[in-house]
Amino acid sequence: MNNKTPINYESYLKISELTGLQSPLSQPMSHDEMQFIVVHQAYELWFKLLTHEIKAMISCLEQGNLSQSISIMKRCNEITTVLNQQILVMETMSPTSFLGFRNLLNPASGLQSYQFRCLEFMSGLKNERYLGLYEAGSVGHNALTKAFLEPTIWDAFMKYLQLQRFTTEEEKDQLASLKIIYTNPKWDSLHFFCESLMDYDESFRVWRHRHFLMAERMIGFKPGTGQQEVSKIKNEDSTPLPPSESGQAFREAGVHYLKSRTEPKYFPLLWEVRMHLV
Ligand code: HEM
Repeated sequence: MNNKTPINYESYLKISELTGLQSPLSQPMSHDEMQFIVVHQAYELWFKLLTHEIKAMISCLEQGNLSQSISIMKRCNEITTVLNQQILVMETMSPTSFLGFRNLLNPASGLQSYQFRCLEFMSGLKNERYLGLYEAGSVGHNALTKAFLEPTIWDAFMKYLQLQRFTTEEEKDQLASLKIIYTNPKWDSLHFFCESLMDYDESFRVWRHRHFLMAERMIGFKPGTGQQEVSKIKNEDSTPLPPSESGQAFREAGVHYLKSRTEPKYFPLLWEVRMHLV
């Protein structure tokens, strides 16, 4: 930056660059394609911020800083509310308008959003098969490999609990610790934190559900644009998968695949502890 030019809104936020990043493919331009691009790009920016926040929170938990983790979770949960709202903008497009440019997108698909997948990995839904969607050495492959190897939110939370002298070795110990947290007022702050993790998990389940409904509304059960891409992740490997992420869903791809993705949970033990409270 030239020292003589004072910083301003445009130069700080790079507005010209940002508003020059939309390149519709339809010619003449299909009116709704601009909306389609901007909404996706807005999602990717929110994914970027969420990733930044979650990384910071993992590190806070590992260092034993619960109050900072609580404030970060509050921000994350406001962001996920925005993510869920944005689907409504996309739904103002009719299926017919979408057909005006949909074929031009083949084989690109939201399935290839590595930022979304990194968030899922960091939140606990790690599945190595998704790495198959990216060329080795590409930005997506590198980011996802890193997220695959790094601790998840739950790993960091367990580390925090260990610092508080809870036992967390096995799943049954974790569940017993959660029962104490949920029933003993001494652990009110932790209880509050657990519920904010639940808000986050629930919001993403709502997003996956809303996205599935939106996609069905747009294209019914026709194959998705990422159909060919899905074949890259359906190959068998030795990793056992939950039924909702089994080969069947990957084979079907499209909206069937999206339906299968409404079930997974980031923090299953937080959902389970409710069953043990009397
Ligand atoms: C007209 C609107 C949309 C339709 C019809 C649609 C459809 C689909 C379909 C069918 C898939 C499954 C993969 C495939 O077969 O291609 C998919 C995956 C995905 N889409 Fe969309 N989508 C739409 C908008 C969006 C938006 C606005 C986002 C925001 C980022 C998004 C993000 C994703 C993500 C992250 C996946 C992977 C989901 C997962 O693995 O659980 N999509 N989409």
